[in-house]
Amino acid sequence: MASVLVLNGPNLNLLGTRQPEVYGSTTLADVEAACAVRAAELGLSVEFAQSNHEGVMIDAIHAAKSVHDGLVINAGAYTHTSIALMDAVASVELPMVEVHLSNIHAREPFRHVSYLSKVAIGQICGFGAQGYLMALDALHVRLSTP
Ligand code: DQA
Repeated sequence: MASVLVLNGPNLNLLGTRQPEVYGSTTLADVEAACAVRAAELGLSVEFAQSNHEGVMIDAIHAAKSVHDGLVINAGAYTHTSIALMDAVASVELPMVEVHLSNIHAREPFRHVSYLSKVAIGQICGFGAQGYLMALDALHVRLSTP
């Protein structure tokens, strides 16, 4: 069974109460529960991690190399700043789908740049919590295509 790590970055632990007009009222626990259901339907194994710390996220990506077959990452604001996270994903050579709840391209110009996109198989943004399920669908296709 293919295995996927869903990794969330800074401030996403506050989902549900954080700027609900931008990010919705779904909590991170709700997102993870929905992902677990979708993963089971797809026949994927899924694990979850969240950190507010860039280095901890990098360690989680490194550790994923020997355990998981793909990554779903919402790196929060590190998306727009972190060459180190981009390098970590490039280093482990796992297919990664980048997710954002909001449509980052319709927001402030500093959110239009994503370092992670350079190492993602694709980016899903603007669909709220559903984006995570779309990312699992996309990874499932990628991982089951020879
Ligand atoms: C976000 C978008 C980022 O710009 C922001 O810093 C976040 C959340 C999103 O899911 O829409 O923390 O990644």
